[in-house]
Amino acid sequence: MADGCAVQLTAPNGVTFPQPTGLFIGGQWVKSSLGKTITSIDPSTEKPIVAVQAGSVKDIDDAVSAARRALQDPSWRDLPETWDNGKPYSVSLNEDMGEVAGTLRYYAGFADKVFGQVIETTADKFAYTIREPIGVCGQIIPWNYPLAMAAWKLGPALACGNTVVLKPAEQTPLSILYFANLVTQAGFPPGVVNIVNGFGAEAGKALASHEDVDKIAFTGSTATAKDIMRMAASNLKNITLETGGKSPLVVFDDAELENAVEWAHAGIMSNQGQICTATSRILVQAGIFDQFMEAFKKQVRNVSTVGDPFDSNTFQGPQVSKAQLDRIKDFISVGKAEGANLEMGGQPQATAGGKGYFIQPTVFTGVNPQMRIFQEEVFGPFVTISKFESEEEAVALCNGTQYGLGSAVFTTNLTKAHRVARRIEAGMVWINSSNDSDWRIPFGGVKQSGIGRELGEAGLEAYSTVKAIHVNMRSKL
Ligand code: NAI
Ligand code: MG
Repeated sequence: MADGCAVQLTAPNGVTFPQPTGLFIGGQWVKSSLGKTITSIDPSTEKPIVAVQAGSVKDIDDAVSAARRALQDPSWRDLPETWDNGKPYSVSLNEDMGEVAGTLRYYAGFADKVFGQVIETTADKFAYTIREPIGVCGQIIPWNYPLAMAAWKLGPALACGNTVVLKPAEQTPLSILYFANLVTQAGFPPGVVNIVNGFGAEAGKALASHEDVDKIAFTGSTATAKDIMRMAASNLKNITLETGGKSPLVVFDDAELENAVEWAHAGIMSNQGQICTATSRILVQAGIFDQFMEAFKKQVRNVSTVGDPFDSNTFQGPQVSKAQLDRIKDFISVGKAEGANLEMGGQPQATAGGKGYFIQPTVFTGVNPQMRIFQEEVFGPFVTISKFESEEEAVALCNGTQYGLGSAVFTTNLTKAHRVARRIEAGMVWINSSNDSDWRIPFGGVKQSGIGRELGEAGLEAYSTVKAIHVNMRSKL
């Protein structure tokens, strides 16, 4: 399978390319030991795209062994700069690819800047720390940003000298398998990066519970994160978890209305609402509520064009899978049953071919904090809009869920903006914007939105350990 069992695919936009379908283990393309495959589905047409190999428990074990060998291989272990050769990113640079390349370049720059400290103690002692790789890192990523999530995890792990077994989400393995060939071209020793596609319940589980894996980094649902934590306990793995959210977006009476409306729309409706930090609960102060509602609905009508993702006029494509579409439909029923007002949407979106996992952008008002649609992550173009009176009430509403990932505050009052930012329980606060992520700035959550940080310098801490070295300068005890 030298070529990854590549098949020529032609995308709906007419671009033809070789798509690897194998498992990338120890620098080689192999087939699943059980001969199982996963069929990738085009969510616009519900038609199969291609079948890719599905990794088994044994395949994960092989990948972990390859990563362990690579960790001990001097050509990797003693490499002073772990990642500055090659620019494998000559792929057309659209938004996601720009982020992937930017993140990888950012961390490549850190590869020779990971160092410890000299710590002053007493005259007869010299003490210093060094930063070492954690070891073999298992990385489990979701389907909503397949390549960007891979870059967020591979960049810091490799900059710190770790080796990696990465499991893509079963729904979206294609781009990351393509990326595997670029890893070889960039000159990484075999086994430093292994990519084993597979189902969560099999390959994901095998990785999270493997006794020779030193760390698990995961992005996905809070429920799966809890399972992973339990599995990681078997050998006390280091963990980083980035999970769900129900991020609030607060609009105070004194906000710039047009700006707030545009960000509020983009913050929930972009990427089909399938963003962990999507600002899915909009909280609007009473004095501006009616104006906001009118402008927000207009924005949804004007901007949220639903249709073919390869059509340049489309803002919102299909949801990733039937399971995700069904989940959103369920929440629409729940919202109605709970007595909230369905202001817009709420129906599957009819398309020309009658196929595909399309849903109308959906807006609920009259939502109170007890409702499930206010508390639970939907992960779709589905937003609740609630009214509040005071700053105190806004903060209480923001903090009134189990989550604490992103949050946004719209006001022109400088002191209020910073005061509220400090009071919100979240890993990130955007003042007068939403979902404004940057690879130089730490990303992650508090409460049940996760453990640890990715991106920025904080991302390096997640992939290195500190060793303390004490040097005795006295001759005897
Ligand atoms: P999931 O959390 O189950 O899947 C994410 C990744 O974990 C995938 O690679 C999957 O194969 C793997 N996985 C699943 N079960 C596993 C297990 N037992 N052991 C090890 N790995 C396992 O998410 P799913 O089922 O795709 O989506 C459900 C909900 O999760 C969504 O509706 C959304 O609310 C949330 N989600 C959040 C994401 C985020 O960016 N924070 C991304 C994807 C989903
Ligand atoms: Mg799941």
